[in-house]
Amino acid sequence: MKFLIDDANIQKIREIYDLYPVDGVTTNPSILAKSGRNPYEVLKEIREFIGPDAELHAQVISLTADKMVEEGRKMAEILGKNTYIKIPTIPEGLKAMKILSGEGYNITATAIYTPLQAYLAAKAGADYAAPYVNRIDNLGANGIASTKCIQNIFENNGLKTQILAASFKNSQQVQELCEYGVGAATIGVDVIEGLIKNAAVDSAVNAFIKDFEGLCGEGKTMLNCDK
Ligand code: G3P
Repeated sequence: MKFLIDDANIQKIREIYDLYPVDGVTTNPSILAKSGRNPYEVLKEIREFIGPDAELHAQVISLTADKMVEEGRKMAEILGKNTYIKIPTIPEGLKAMKILSGEGYNITATAIYTPLQAYLAAKAGADYAAPYVNRIDNLGANGIASTKCIQNIFENNGLKTQILAASFKNSQQVQELCEYGVGAATIGVDVIEGLIKNAAVDSAVNAFIKDFEGLCGEGKTMLNCDK
């Protein structure tokens, strides 16, 4: 399962990239709005930081296929070859996906709340389909079950589209989809930090240090305990 950051805050992206094994960054218009800055300025800054080979996902705004296609072409031109054009999975979006995928652009079908949206997006040529796990839960349905259903639909129909699971609220949701082997997950910074936060681990690590320092002296490590 690829692991992407669902955020546009460059400082947070830098911090997560420094520590965690990350495959790229996803954004949406609401995430970009939080920056209060020009969207291209922010996206270019992210691209510069993550490099040309990492995935950068950014979304079109228009509601007609023709305009979505124009936006997508412009975004890919400005943001580079590993840009994924996020297109909402509505009828006009399906048309835009067919056109842009036919031209060889990378497509992420977004705003997916049902398995049949994902099926249609895959048929329209999307590289990724992004089910909104937690938002599906909030509708009284089951986001994990819907995402697994999408994976089964893709596999059983020979569709090459990958899942890019989005909208996570907690580690358990991430773990369940990781175990199931979906293609990718994009996760907000708070949830990323929660994936590995564990007081028992901190306590074990601190006990090891205390014991070692008891043996060799304060501040000693394997680098200098022979001096
Ligand atoms: O990009 C869509 C998805 O990441 C939304 O997440 O947390 O706003 O439900 P959230």
